[in-house]
Amino acid sequence: MNYRHSYHAGNFADCLKHLVLVQLIKLMQKKDKGFMVLDAFSGTGIYDLHAEFAGRSPEYIDGIVKIWDYADKNSNTKPAIIDYIEALKLVNESQRYYAGSPFLISKLLRPQDRAFFIELHKIDVQTLADNISDFKYECECKSLNVEHNDGYQSVKAKLPPVEKRGLIFIDPPFEKPDEFRNMINSLKEGLKRFETGVFAYWYADKNATETKDFLKKVKNLGKKYLNVSMQIQNKNEIKGLVSSGLVIINPPYGLNEALKDTMGQLTTILGKNHGAKYTLEAFENI
Ligand SMILES: C[S@@+](CC[C@H](N)C(=O)[O-])C[C@H]1O[C@@H](n2cnc3c(N)ncnc32)[C@H](O)[C@@H]1O
Repeated sequence: MNYRHSYHAGNFADCLKHLVLVQLIKLMQKKDKGFMVLDAFSGTGIYDLHAEFAGRSPEYIDGIVKIWDYADKNSNTKPAIIDYIEALKLVNESQRYYAGSPFLISKLLRPQDRAFFIELHKIDVQTLADNISDFKYECECKSLNVEHNDGYQSVKAKLPPVEKRGLIFIDPPFEKPDEFRNMINSLKEGLKRFETGVFAYWYADKNATETKDFLKKVKNLGKKYLNVSMQIQNKNEIKGLVSSGLVIINPPYGLNEALKDTMGQLTTILGKNHGAKYTLEAFENI
Protein backbone atom coordinates (compact mmCIF):
# COMPACT_ATOMS: atom_id res chain seq x y z
CA MET A 1 0.00 0.00 0.00
CA ASN A 2 1.68 3.20 -1.15
CA TYR A 3 -1.24 5.57 -1.02
CA ARG A 4 -0.87 8.35 1.58
CA HIS A 5 -3.77 10.72 1.70
CA SER A 6 -1.66 13.61 3.06
CA TYR A 7 -0.52 14.40 -0.49
CA HIS A 8 -4.11 14.99 -1.53
CA ALA A 9 -5.77 16.38 1.60
CA GLY A 10 -8.07 19.29 0.83
CA ASN A 11 -7.92 18.91 -2.95
CA PHE A 12 -10.98 19.42 -5.21
CA ALA A 13 -12.03 15.79 -4.82
CA ASP A 14 -11.88 16.03 -1.01
CA CYS A 15 -13.95 19.21 -1.17
CA LEU A 16 -16.86 17.56 -2.99
CA LYS A 17 -16.54 14.35 -0.93
CA HIS A 18 -16.50 16.15 2.42
CA LEU A 19 -19.19 18.65 1.47
CA VAL A 20 -21.46 15.69 0.69
CA LEU A 21 -20.42 13.88 3.89
CA VAL A 22 -21.31 16.91 6.01
CA GLN A 23 -24.72 17.19 4.31
CA LEU A 24 -25.38 13.47 4.78
CA ILE A 25 -24.74 13.69 8.51
CA LYS A 26 -26.73 16.89 8.95
CA LEU A 27 -29.71 15.50 7.04
CA MET A 28 -29.63 12.19 8.93
CA GLN A 29 -29.59 14.18 12.17
CA LYS A 30 -32.94 15.75 11.31
CA LYS A 31 -34.29 12.68 13.14
CA ASP A 32 -33.47 12.28 16.84
CA LYS A 33 -32.85 8.54 16.62
CA GLY A 34 -29.15 7.76 16.65
CA PHE A 35 -27.30 6.06 13.80
CA MET A 36 -24.01 4.33 13.10
CA VAL A 37 -21.39 5.67 10.70
CA LEU A 38 -18.98 3.20 9.16
CA ASP A 39 -16.03 5.15 7.73
CA ALA A 40 -14.33 2.19 6.06
CA PHE A 41 -11.31 3.93 4.48
CA SER A 42 -10.46 6.46 7.13
CA GLY A 43 -6.93 7.77 6.60
CA THR A 44 -5.29 9.54 9.56
CA GLY A 45 -8.12 11.92 10.36
CA ILE A 46 -6.40 15.29 10.25
CA TYR A 47 -3.77 16.81 7.97
CA ASP A 48 -1.29 19.61 8.58
CA LEU A 49 -1.40 21.64 5.38
CA HIS A 50 1.89 23.30 6.27
CA ALA A 51 3.77 20.03 6.79
CA GLU A 52 6.53 19.14 4.38
CA PHE A 53 4.64 15.96 3.54
CA ALA A 54 1.68 17.88 2.17
CA GLY A 55 3.90 20.69 0.92
CA ARG A 56 5.43 18.47 -1.74
CA SER A 57 2.13 18.33 -3.52
CA PRO A 58 0.01 21.22 -2.34
CA GLU A 59 -3.23 20.11 -3.97
CA TYR A 60 -5.21 21.98 -1.31
CA ILE A 61 -4.25 25.29 -2.97
CA ASP A 62 -6.58 24.39 -5.85
CA GLY A 63 -9.15 22.96 -3.46
CA ILE A 64 -10.10 24.13 0.01
CA VAL A 65 -8.07 27.37 -0.26
CA LYS A 66 -10.24 28.49 -3.20
CA ILE A 67 -13.37 27.76 -1.18
CA TRP A 68 -12.10 29.62 1.89
CA ASP A 69 -11.18 32.61 -0.32
CA TYR A 70 -14.53 32.61 -2.10
CA ALA A 71 -16.53 32.42 1.12
CA ASP A 72 -14.48 35.26 2.63
CA LYS A 73 -15.34 37.55 -0.26
CA ASN A 74 -18.87 36.48 -1.24
CA SER A 75 -21.96 36.83 0.89
CA ASN A 76 -23.92 34.63 -1.55
CA THR A 77 -21.94 31.50 -0.63
CA LYS A 78 -24.33 28.55 -0.71
CA PRO A 79 -25.52 27.07 2.61
CA ALA A 80 -23.99 23.62 1.96
CA ILE A 81 -20.59 25.22 1.31
CA ILE A 82 -20.93 27.21 4.52
CA ASP A 83 -21.90 24.02 6.42
CA TYR A 84 -18.72 22.38 5.11
CA ILE A 85 -16.51 25.33 6.11
CA GLU A 86 -18.16 25.45 9.55
CA ALA A 87 -17.57 21.73 10.04
CA LEU A 88 -13.86 22.21 9.21
CA LYS A 89 -13.75 25.06 11.70
CA LEU A 90 -15.00 22.75 14.43
CA VAL A 91 -11.70 20.91 14.02
CA ASN A 92 -9.52 23.99 13.89
CA GLU A 93 -10.28 27.67 13.74
CA SER A 94 -7.15 28.51 11.74
CA GLN A 95 -6.75 27.28 8.20
CA ARG A 96 -3.64 25.27 8.95
CA TYR A 97 -5.21 21.86 9.46
CA TYR A 98 -7.58 20.03 7.18
CA ALA A 99 -10.04 17.57 8.69
CA GLY A 100 -10.46 14.24 6.96
CA SER A 101 -13.62 12.15 7.18
CA PRO A 102 -12.98 10.73 10.71
CA PHE A 103 -12.63 14.17 12.26
CA LEU A 104 -15.60 15.65 10.43
CA ILE A 105 -17.67 12.68 11.56
CA SER A 106 -16.35 12.78 15.14
CA LYS A 107 -17.10 16.47 15.49
CA LEU A 108 -20.56 16.31 13.95
CA LEU A 109 -21.89 13.18 15.67
CA ARG A 110 -24.26 13.52 18.61
CA PRO A 111 -24.02 11.42 21.78
CA GLN A 112 -26.72 9.07 20.45
CA ASP A 113 -24.72 8.38 17.24
CA ARG A 114 -21.60 6.22 16.97
CA ALA A 115 -18.83 5.57 14.49
CA PHE A 116 -16.34 2.94 13.38
CA PHE A 117 -13.20 4.10 11.61
CA ILE A 118 -11.42 1.42 9.60
CA GLU A 119 -7.93 1.82 8.15
CA LEU A 120 -5.63 -0.83 6.70
CA HIS A 121 -2.31 1.03 6.65
CA LYS A 122 -0.37 -0.03 9.77
CA ILE A 123 1.14 3.37 10.54
CA ASP A 124 -1.87 5.43 9.51
CA VAL A 125 -4.24 3.42 11.68
CA GLN A 126 -2.04 4.08 14.72
CA THR A 127 -1.88 7.80 13.89
CA LEU A 128 -5.65 7.82 13.50
CA ALA A 129 -6.14 5.99 16.82
CA ASP A 130 -3.88 8.55 18.57
CA ASN A 131 -5.69 11.45 16.90
CA ILE A 132 -9.12 10.13 17.83
CA SER A 133 -8.02 9.33 21.37
CA ASP A 134 -6.76 12.94 21.79
CA PHE A 135 -10.13 14.08 20.56
CA LYS A 136 -11.99 11.70 22.90
CA TYR A 137 -10.00 13.14 25.77
CA GLU A 138 -11.79 16.42 25.02
CA CYS A 139 -15.16 14.68 24.97
CA GLU A 140 -15.82 11.14 26.20
CA CYS A 141 -19.47 11.45 25.30
CA LYS A 142 -19.25 9.79 21.90
CA SER A 143 -18.67 6.22 20.79
CA LEU A 144 -15.76 6.47 18.33
CA ASN A 145 -13.90 3.26 17.49
CA VAL A 146 -10.77 2.81 15.39
CA GLU A 147 -9.98 -0.61 13.90
CA HIS A 148 -7.11 -1.97 11.83
CA ASN A 149 -8.92 -3.90 9.17
CA ASP A 150 -9.92 -4.12 5.53
CA GLY A 151 -12.65 -1.61 4.70
CA TYR A 152 -14.63 -3.94 2.47
CA GLN A 153 -14.53 -6.70 5.12
CA SER A 154 -15.89 -4.22 7.64
CA VAL A 155 -18.99 -3.72 5.47
CA LYS A 156 -19.75 -7.40 6.03
CA ALA A 157 -18.77 -7.38 9.69
CA LYS A 158 -20.54 -4.25 10.91
CA LEU A 159 -23.86 -4.44 9.08
CA PRO A 160 -26.67 -4.27 9.92
CA PRO A 161 -26.30 -1.82 12.80
CA VAL A 162 -28.53 -2.36 15.85
CA GLU A 163 -29.95 1.15 15.41
CA LYS A 164 -31.28 0.16 11.97
CA ARG A 165 -29.99 3.53 10.80
CA GLY A 166 -26.56 3.88 9.28
CA LEU A 167 -24.23 5.71 6.93
CA ILE A 168 -21.57 3.68 5.16
CA PHE A 169 -18.85 5.89 3.74
CA ILE A 170 -16.48 4.20 1.28
CA ASP A 171 -13.48 6.20 0.09
CA PRO A 172 -10.86 3.85 -1.38
CA PRO A 173 -7.49 5.01 -2.78
CA PHE A 174 -8.26 3.90 -6.36
CA GLU A 175 -4.76 2.64 -6.92
CA LYS A 176 -5.77 -0.83 -8.05
CA PRO A 177 -7.50 -1.58 -11.34
CA ASP A 178 -10.22 -3.64 -9.63
CA GLU A 179 -11.52 -0.90 -7.32
CA PHE A 180 -14.85 -0.50 -9.17
CA ARG A 181 -15.41 -4.25 -9.01
CA ASN A 182 -14.66 -4.25 -5.26
CA MET A 183 -17.05 -1.36 -4.79
CA ILE A 184 -19.94 -3.04 -6.60
CA ASN A 185 -19.37 -6.30 -4.73
CA SER A 186 -19.26 -4.43 -1.46
CA LEU A 187 -22.44 -2.52 -2.29
CA LYS A 188 -24.21 -5.80 -3.03
CA GLU A 189 -22.97 -7.32 0.25
CA GLY A 190 -23.91 -4.19 2.17
CA LEU A 191 -27.41 -3.97 0.73
CA LYS A 192 -28.01 -7.67 1.35
CA ARG A 193 -27.32 -7.07 5.05
CA PHE A 194 -28.82 -3.61 5.38
CA GLU A 195 -31.11 -2.64 2.53
CA THR A 196 -32.21 0.67 4.06
CA GLY A 197 -28.67 1.89 4.82
CA VAL A 198 -27.30 5.08 3.32
CA PHE A 199 -24.28 4.01 1.26
CA ALA A 200 -21.98 6.78 -0.03
CA TYR A 201 -19.24 5.51 -2.36
CA TRP A 202 -16.63 7.92 -3.68
CA TYR A 203 -15.10 7.20 -7.09
CA ALA A 204 -12.20 8.50 -9.14
CA ASP A 205 -13.40 9.19 -12.66
CA LYS A 206 -10.19 8.27 -14.47
CA ASN A 207 -11.56 6.34 -17.39
CA ALA A 208 -14.94 7.27 -18.94
CA THR A 209 -15.78 3.70 -20.03
CA GLU A 210 -15.06 2.22 -16.62
CA THR A 211 -16.99 4.94 -14.83
CA LYS A 212 -19.97 4.46 -17.13
CA ASP A 213 -19.88 0.72 -16.54
CA PHE A 214 -19.75 1.23 -12.77
CA LEU A 215 -22.71 3.64 -12.85
CA LYS A 216 -24.69 1.19 -14.95
CA LYS A 217 -24.05 -1.53 -12.39
CA VAL A 218 -25.15 0.79 -9.59
CA LYS A 219 -28.35 1.51 -11.50
CA ASN A 220 -28.96 -2.22 -11.96
CA LEU A 221 -29.02 -2.68 -8.20
CA GLY A 222 -32.54 -1.27 -8.47
CA LYS A 223 -32.25 1.14 -5.55
CA LYS A 224 -32.97 4.81 -5.19
CA TYR A 225 -29.70 6.70 -5.62
CA LEU A 226 -27.94 9.93 -6.50
CA ASN A 227 -24.83 10.36 -8.62
CA VAL A 228 -22.90 13.58 -8.22
CA SER A 229 -19.60 14.28 -9.94
CA MET A 230 -17.41 17.25 -10.71
CA GLN A 231 -14.70 17.77 -13.30
CA ILE A 232 -12.40 20.77 -12.87
CA GLN A 233 -10.80 20.89 -16.33
CA ASN A 234 -10.64 18.91 -19.56
CA LYS A 235 -9.40 15.39 -19.00
CA ASN A 236 -6.62 15.47 -21.58
CA GLU A 237 -5.07 18.75 -20.38
CA ILE A 238 -2.98 17.40 -17.53
CA LYS A 239 -1.85 14.13 -16.06
CA GLY A 240 -3.64 13.32 -12.85
CA LEU A 241 -7.13 13.29 -11.48
CA VAL A 242 -9.48 16.03 -12.73
CA SER A 243 -12.86 14.39 -12.16
CA SER A 244 -14.44 12.44 -9.32
CA GLY A 245 -17.83 11.75 -7.86
CA LEU A 246 -19.97 9.94 -5.34
CA VAL A 247 -22.92 7.63 -5.62
CA ILE A 248 -25.29 7.72 -2.70
CA ILE A 249 -27.72 4.83 -2.37
CA ASN A 250 -30.84 5.60 -0.31
CA PRO A 251 -29.97 9.31 -0.14
CA PRO A 252 -31.60 11.11 2.78
CA TYR A 253 -34.46 13.45 1.99
CA GLY A 254 -33.12 16.89 1.05
CA LEU A 255 -29.73 15.83 -0.35
CA ASN A 256 -30.72 16.20 -3.99
CA GLU A 257 -32.10 19.70 -3.34
CA ALA A 258 -29.02 20.76 -1.37
CA LEU A 259 -26.69 19.58 -4.16
CA LYS A 260 -28.86 21.16 -6.87
CA ASP A 261 -28.44 24.43 -5.05
CA THR A 262 -24.68 24.03 -4.56
CA MET A 263 -23.00 22.22 -7.43
CA GLY A 264 -23.01 25.15 -9.88
CA GLN A 265 -21.27 27.43 -7.43
CA LEU A 266 -18.85 24.74 -6.24
CA THR A 267 -17.85 24.00 -9.84
CA THR A 268 -17.35 27.71 -10.55
CA ILE A 269 -15.12 28.05 -7.49
CA LEU A 270 -13.00 24.96 -8.15
CA GLY A 271 -13.15 24.80 -11.95
CA LYS A 272 -9.95 25.75 -13.74
CA ASN A 273 -11.29 26.53 -17.21
CA HIS A 274 -14.09 25.91 -19.72
CA GLY A 275 -13.68 22.16 -19.21
CA ALA A 276 -15.17 22.43 -15.70
CA LYS A 277 -18.60 20.83 -15.27
CA TYR A 278 -20.70 18.78 -12.91
CA THR A 279 -23.30 16.03 -13.09
CA LEU A 280 -26.16 15.53 -10.68
CA GLU A 281 -28.52 12.67 -11.41
CA ALA A 282 -31.24 11.32 -9.15
CA PHE A 283 -32.76 7.91 -9.82
CA GLU A 284 -35.89 6.67 -8.11
CA ASN A 285 -35.50 3.13 -9.47
CA ILE A 286 -38.34 1.72 -7.35
C1 LIG B 1 -8.70 8.35 0.08
S1 LIG B 1 -7.95 7.86 1.57
C2 LIG B 1 -9.16 8.13 2.77
C3 LIG B 1 -9.39 9.54 3.15
C4 LIG B 1 -10.44 9.71 4.22
N1 LIG B 1 -11.65 8.94 3.95
C5 LIG B 1 -10.81 11.16 4.35
O1 LIG B 1 -11.84 11.58 3.78
O2 LIG B 1 -10.09 11.88 5.04
C6 LIG B 1 -7.98 6.12 1.45
C7 LIG B 1 -7.45 5.44 2.71
O3 LIG B 1 -7.78 4.05 2.63
C8 LIG B 1 -6.70 3.30 3.18
N2 LIG B 1 -6.85 1.94 2.62
C9 LIG B 1 -6.37 1.41 1.46
N3 LIG B 1 -6.85 0.17 1.27
C10 LIG B 1 -7.66 -0.09 2.32
C11 LIG B 1 -8.48 -1.19 2.68
N4 LIG B 1 -8.55 -2.30 1.93
N5 LIG B 1 -9.21 -1.11 3.81
C12 LIG B 1 -9.17 0.00 4.60
N6 LIG B 1 -8.40 1.08 4.31
C13 LIG B 1 -7.67 1.03 3.20
C14 LIG B 1 -5.47 4.05 2.73
O4 LIG B 1 -4.38 3.75 3.58
C15 LIG B 1 -5.95 5.51 2.86
O5 LIG B 1 -5.64 6.01 4.13
